[in-house]
Order: sequence, then C-alpha cells, then structure tokens
Amino acid sequence: MVKICCIGAGYVGGPTMAVIALKCPDIEVVVVDIFEPRIIAWNSDHLPIYEPGLDDVVKQCRGENLFFSKDVEKHVAEADIVFVSVNTPTKTQGLGAGKAADLTYWESAARMIADVSKSDKIVVEKSTVPVKTAEAIEKILTHNSKGINFQILSNPEFLAEGTAIQDLFKPDRVLIGGRETPEGQKAIQALKDVYAHWVPVDRIICTNLWSAELSKLAANAFLAQRISSVNAMSALCEATGADVSQVSHAIGKDTRIGPKFLNASVGFGGSCFQKDILNLVYICECNGLPEVASYWKQVVQVNEYQKTRFVNRMVSSMFNTVSGKKIAILGFAFKKDTGDTRETPAIGVCQGLLGDKAILSIYDPQVSQEQIQRDLSMHKSELDRPPHLQPASPTAIKQVSCVWDAYEAAKGAHGICILTEWDEFKTLDYQKIYDDMQKPAFVFDGRNVVDVDKLRQIGFIVYSTGKPLDAWLKDMPAVA
Ligand code: NAD
Ligand code: UDX
Repeated sequence: MVKICCIGAGYVGGPTMAVIALKCPDIEVVVVDIFEPRIIAWNSDHLPIYEPGLDDVVKQCRGENLFFSKDVEKHVAEADIVFVSVNTPTKTQGLGAGKAADLTYWESAARMIADVSKSDKIVVEKSTVPVKTAEAIEKILTHNSKGINFQILSNPEFLAEGTAIQDLFKPDRVLIGGRETPEGQKAIQALKDVYAHWVPVDRIICTNLWSAELSKLAANAFLAQRISSVNAMSALCEATGADVSQVSHAIGKDTRIGPKFLNASVGFGGSCFQKDILNLVYICECNGLPEVASYWKQVVQVNEYQKTRFVNRMVSSMFNTVSGKKIAILGFAFKKDTGDTRETPAIGVCQGLLGDKAILSIYDPQVSQEQIQRDLSMHKSELDRPPHLQPASPTAIKQVSCVWDAYEAAKGAHGICILTEWDEFKTLDYQKIYDDMQKPAFVFDGRNVVDVDKLRQIGFIVYSTGKPLDAWLKDMPAVA
C-alpha cells in the first residue's frame, strides 16, 4: 500500500488529502500538523474548517485510510510521498518584508523531512511558493540526506474555498512539475498515478518544476487582475451612470473574455491573491524587471483603492460622519460558504468605520465572535502567523458586537453594509429591516446582492458597487 503523509492540516491539506483518500482506497493518507487543537478537531464531529461537502468526505474515509495525527515525524518517516502544505505568508520583517513569501515553515518542514527519513521519498510542494523554491528545498534535503534519494515535485493546488470539494472532485487541471531526469519523470508518473484514480489523464498537465511553480502565481495574478479590472470599471460606472453588472454581462459574452470572475465587489480577499501577487512582484524586482513588477502591483493597489472608496462613500453619504452611529455589518468572511476571514475586505472596511467612531453590529453565519474580535484588534503580522504562534486574544473592542442574525444586527441601525455575498442576504425581509432602522435608512452593498430598485421602493437609500447612484448619493461630496 502506497503511504502518503501531508504536513499541514489546513484549508488545503485537510480537504485535498480527504479527497485523495476517498478516491484512492488503496492508499493510506495521514495528515499531520504541529498545531494539536486542529488535529483534535479533524478527529471530531466539528471539523476545524467549514467547507460544503467536506464532512461527508471525511466521514466516509476517516479511520479507514484517512488519519489525522500530531505525530509528524513518525508519519513522515513512514511515507512514500510527502506533501508539504504549510503556510507561506508574506514576510513581515527583514529582506523582502511586505512582499516576499516567508518560507520559514516550509524550510523547517524540509529540514525535519531530511532528519527523520530512512527511505527514499517523493516530496511534493503543495503550498504556493516562489518560483525556484524546489531548488532550495532540494539543497536542504540533499545536503542532509544520509544517502536517501529525494525527488521534489511541484503540485500547486487550485481549489477555491467554499467550492473546495467540487474543485477537487472535478479539477480543471492538475499540474505536476518535476525534474526532466529519468528519476524526476518516474516521480511525476507516481503522482500522476495517484490523481489518475479520478482525474481524466488529459487533465493532468506535466511540466518542468519552474513552470509549475510559476503557473500557480500566474493563475492567481490573472484571476485577481480580472477583479481589479472590473472594480476599476465600477468606479467609472458610478461616475457615468453605467451599470457594472450590465457591463460585465456585455463583455463576458465575448468568448475571448468569458463570463466568470467579473463580479464587482468591495475588493477581493482571501489568503492567496494579495500574498501571491506581492510575491510575484518581488520575484520580478529580484529578476531586474521593475516594469513587470509595477504592472502587477497595480492589481493590489486597485484593490486597496476599492476598499477605501467604499468606506469613504459610506461616511460621506451619512452626512460625512458615522460617529456614534450603529452600522450593521452583514457578512465578515472573505466570500460566501467559508468561515475564513484571512485578508477579508471586511477587516479594512470595519477598521475604517471604527476609525470614524462607528458602532458595529456584525453578523456572519460562519464566523465566530472571537475570530471577528481577533481580526479587528490584532496586527496583520500576528494574524499571518500559523495558529500555534498566534498570541492570545487581546481585549475585545467595545464598539463591536456580534449577533446571531441579520435582523438583530440591523435593529436601530443607521445603515447596513453587506460585505459577504451569503445567499441568505438575498432573501431577507428588507421591509421588516427598514421598519426597525433609523431614518434615513442606508444600505451599502459591497457584493451586489440586493435588488436595488426594490429596496429604493421600500425607502432605503441604496449604494451598490458600480450601480447607478441614487439622487441622494449624487448630491454628496465626491469620494476618492
Ligand atoms: P493553513 O494556515 O490553513 O494551514 C497550514 C497548516 O500548516 C497550519 O495548520 C499549521 O499549523 C501547519 N504547519 C505550519 N508549519 C508546520 C510544520 N513545520 N509542521 C507541521 N505543520 C505545520 O494554510 P492553507 O490555507 O492550507 O494554505 C497552505 C498553502 O497552500 C499556502 O502556501 C497557500 O498559499 C496555499 N494555497 C491555499 C489555498 C486556499 O484556498 N487556502 C489554495 C491554494 C493554495
Ligand atoms: C483563489 C483562487 O480562485 C484559487 O484557484 C486558488 O487556489 C486560491 O485562491 P479563493 O481565494 O479561495 O481562491 O476564492 P476566490 O473564489 O478566488 O475568491 C477570492 C476573492 O475574490 C473573494 O473575496 C471573492 O469574493 C472575490 N471575488 C471573486 C470578487 O470580488 N469578484 C469575482 O468575480 C470573484
């Protein structure tokens, strides 16, 4: 029986390995992590991450050929294939701070693999890493190998949170990069055989190591670029009376452009896009390509602009101050169907409103009060650390409360601000909400989920990103 061990039981390691175990009953899969509470949760009825369909998959194979363990070294030593799926956040200190990927956790995992291994292994980069990382990892492994043969493969993961299980069941492609030597090709074939249990072989792309590593950064940069492009258009739509949804629909019909990833929003979030683009920018700079670096940097800058623009629009609409006003925040996760809040635009928007002394009542169906308080009070550099290195929760922010439904959040509020596109926000009883709010009652929709005309008929003053402004908003000072 082939044995797989995955280091890192997070948003990628957990679901990916659960699907491999489900689709490959002949393979034993052990997911290990140094953060014990996460392993305990993976072994319980309350998995550490919310992902539609994940519970079912885990229940089907946990204890059969899928195991979660904190005994990292033992399972690495026993494995034939070791996936490394640890975090690779942006460096916060030292050379490349604010841009380069922090490979501390990767390096320590690689050193540990070299230390404990007693048999040949295929080591798979599952984490998103800078191009050429495999070379560095190879050096660490071969210089400490005691004669053991390690083959490094790059197998970046393309799943998106909220749809991880369907993405893993039916991936657009699986990408495997390896050395162009006979040993490298043999290792590629071994990993290909794993995926071929359920992925059609014409969807398994094999490349050299550097193409695979760079393709992951490139894919995320292209995806994020589409969002920043449509968000830049949304600002122009508001200025001209065009409707960004109509523009997206019209341009998306061009088969060369395609309809996906053209939803204007308050900005993209998530643990990947910003981090990976900054990493790409740094690599371009290090390779003497400042023009290419500044091209990609702009994607992140437009994203920052979009968040600031949203807060400015809110404050200027509400008589240029939100001080002492209750604002209902609907949605805190970075997108629907996940409880993940890493880099969520909600953090920037809420901090902007708190900076103007607003009182926030926050509702998200999947994010806990503790998480929201941590996100709003901790520094980004602390939040980027793996869970076992994060400090204890700081004192709660008094102006922030978290409630159990949207109606409670909106009770007595001056404005509602929609920051995650949860389906339930489309079908709320907005008349009931309006009746319970201060007047004039505002809705600021950062996700284009509400029916603007219907809400205006009820009496709301509505701002929806990239939609024609109503008269009230046009009369307010221009926002930058
Ligand atoms: P995560 O923070 O959810 O999980 C990483 C886990 O690794 C943590 O539980 C941490 O405790 C563990 N870890 C760190 N160092 C360790 C060590 N030395 N030994 C054992 N465990 C260790 O991160 P994630 O979201 O799963 O992302 C992992 C990687 O995958 C990143 O490089 C990310 O860019 C990439 N990625 C993420 C996504 C996504 O949607 N989240 C998608 C594609 C790729
Ligand atoms: C992304 C990539 O899609 C995935 O392939 C990669 O493996 C990891 O990074 P993820 O961040 O989980 O996945 O979610 P994604 O669906 O890409 O959304 C990212 C952010 O962009 C979210 O905040 C989402 O709300 C926002 N978004 C997405 C938009 O604002 N508009 C869109 O049209 C699409």
